[in-house]
Amino acid sequence: MAWIVKPSATAKIPTRDEAYLTDAAKTRYEKDILPRYETKMGALMPILHDIQHENGHIPYQAMIEIAKFLEITPGDVLDTVSFYEEFHTEKVGKYIIGVCQSIACEMCGHQAIIDHVRQKLDIEPHETTEDGKFTLLAMECLGACEGAPCALINEDRHDNLSIETIDKLIDSLPD
Ligand code: FES
Repeated sequence: MAWIVKPSATAKIPTRDEAYLTDAAKTRYEKDILPRYETKMGALMPILHDIQHENGHIPYQAMIEIAKFLEITPGDVLDTVSFYEEFHTEKVGKYIIGVCQSIACEMCGHQAIIDHVRQKLDIEPHETTEDGKFTLLAMECLGACEGAPCALINEDRHDNLSIETIDKLIDSLPD
């Protein structure tokens, strides 16, 4: 297998003039989040959650600002963001369909579910439909193995899925 290498040294990231870590946010983090941790690095996860909550995803510019604020490297921030499926570096759809692909769900037919969603929405995992309505993810164990195969649609988990039930769920979501 050939590795696809990205030209990271010359890559340009989209930026905007307005900071993602506003002065108000920094003051709040200093007061409410940093004191909870022994090191500044410990505050990374709650700050990432906060930034994603505010913006729907975590832009690369925000990662650089977070790194500066926490006195860690942008690589430390990117490592963390890219490790967790729940963090997004790009805009995501109104509805995020996260089909579990871990062992119990795999044994109970997750592939048929994910293939059906791929075909129905014409997107691959980690892609968003052109209308911005759906993003498809293949996720690791959702902690509900007894209900395999299962999926999250935004915050709600749906267990014992079949092609018919995932179809109905998707069709029932308002624009
Ligand atoms: S393997 Fe799917 S919920 Fe645990």
